[in-house]
Amino acid sequence: MRPTLAMRGLCKSYATPVLDGIDLDLLPGEVHALVGENGAGKSTLSRILAGLTPPDSGTLELEGEPYSPSNKRAAEQAGIHLVMQELNLIRTLSVAENIFLDHLPHRAGWIRYPQLHRDAAEVLARIGLPHLDPQTPVEQLGVGQQQMVEIASRLWRPCRVLILDEPTAALTDPEVASLFHQIRQLQSQGVAILYISHRLEEIRQIANRISVLRDGHLVATRLATELPIDDVVRLMVGRELGTANFTAGRTRGPIALAVRNLHAGDRVQNISFDAFRGEILGVSGLMGSGRTETVRAIFGADPIESGQIFLHGNTQPATIRSPRDAVRLGIALLTEDRKGQGLFLSLAVRENLTVNTLPSFASAVGWISRIRETASVRGWLQKLQVRCDSPEQGIAQLSGGNQQKVVVARWLLRDCDILLFDEPTRGVDVGARFEIYQLLADLAAQGKCIVVVSSDLTELMMISDRIAVLSNGRLTAEFTRHAWTQDKIMAAALSGYLSPTTTP
Ligand SMILES: Nc1ncnc2c1ncn2[C@@H]1O[C@H](COP(=O)(O)OP(=O)(O)OP(=O)(O)O)[C@@H](O)[C@H]1O
Ligand SMILES: [Mg+2]
Repeated sequence: MRPTLAMRGLCKSYATPVLDGIDLDLLPGEVHALVGENGAGKSTLSRILAGLTPPDSGTLELEGEPYSPSNKRAAEQAGIHLVMQELNLIRTLSVAENIFLDHLPHRAGWIRYPQLHRDAAEVLARIGLPHLDPQTPVEQLGVGQQQMVEIASRLWRPCRVLILDEPTAALTDPEVASLFHQIRQLQSQGVAILYISHRLEEIRQIANRISVLRDGHLVATRLATELPIDDVVRLMVGRELGTANFTAGRTRGPIALAVRNLHAGDRVQNISFDAFRGEILGVSGLMGSGRTETVRAIFGADPIESGQIFLHGNTQPATIRSPRDAVRLGIALLTEDRKGQGLFLSLAVRENLTVNTLPSFASAVGWISRIRETASVRGWLQKLQVRCDSPEQGIAQLSGGNQQKVVVARWLLRDCDILLFDEPTRGVDVGARFEIYQLLADLAAQGKCIVVVSSDLTELMMISDRIAVLSNGRLTAEFTRHAWTQDKIMAAALSGYLSPTTTP
């Protein structure tokens, strides 16, 4: 079968070689999964195919013809579309405007909004978001919904090759299912799909072939049926990960955080729960169920309308009006939106790591000890296997997963008693994921109170002592480890949308 897109000898170096002689064929109608550790070069390869980065050497052929796109537009005209790993929507524009950007329907210079909104509603319904109003400004959406809009903005275009760079990193199961439905349809139309993900379970479900990228080389390209996931992991990280128990050896301590009848906007409706020292409380729920809004309200990042938060068994409620108050009271929040809220993109890796903790490196007279700071930074970079040239490298140059590790380490460096993590492993590879799970487990064993929001249910079931489930802005269930099953959690996640809700 003639490949739709053929890559021959692709090379790309930055400070060090990233891709070294990549030969890869994408066949019509196949889903070709590309896996590899954070920094392996997956996004770099995607960017070359989509005309965003030129290769140093090597050639591309599209349906037998030479193909060397000079920019994104040229690639799109040739029918090659990329859904990028980082969100690239324009936050002040509406969902509809973002979906049809560069192709807005107009007459005599005026945008025809009724048509735009009709077209957008149709695209949204196809991808499983029939209830999302096309006129909503993108900045009002959570990361998961933004990701769906980004995907929708690629799906309506005529397409020969579709590249999806970690499309599901912030999606929960139902959205993944509607994305897969769309992918299968494109597949039946003969579109070649390059699918990049760190969620290996998904790859097992959707991929026909799997290629593994390691140290700049393609170390394997095999039929998915011939490559069990354990072998994929071994090829990716070059060692066995084994099975670890992330809940052993800790005992639940006194109460650290009690939330009572919390109301904040329409996504946080009468939420009450307790979280204890020495435990990890997982928070599950569908996209838009109020998970992020709940932790943001506790952290003082969004205003609370009513309800109380009690810390460490105090009978007086805490006053948390801003993140500054929260941090002073020993609460940390890792946000889900690393590009918008988590990173200082113009600063170095070191500065991003220590931005919250600089005073702890100061001497008695207030000088910051750069030596102590750098030593500590190097320790963390090594612990989480962050791939970068030096602590002074600009964070913007790191791969997505490596940026995420830096943001996680920033909060681990800071000695807070209550740690709220919203999607801590988003975009992080399997090896480093396990490192983060172990770090969370260690913190819990030291008596910290840890709350983890995740769209990855397998992950929550692996690390949590208890799981609270949100649905439609309400807490619908709480399970202990021996009581939960995947089905029970999913049922609780849906229940808020089925039963008639009483007004608070
Ligand atoms: N503009 C740049 N300048 C310098 N180095 C860069 C630049 N862009 C990427 N790199 C480096 O190239 C390597 C590969 O990055 P890439 O983003 O392709 O990785 P990835 O496989 O997509 O990783 P992830 O799973 O974390 O998304 C990384 O080590 C990264 O630091
Ligand atoms: Mg990437």
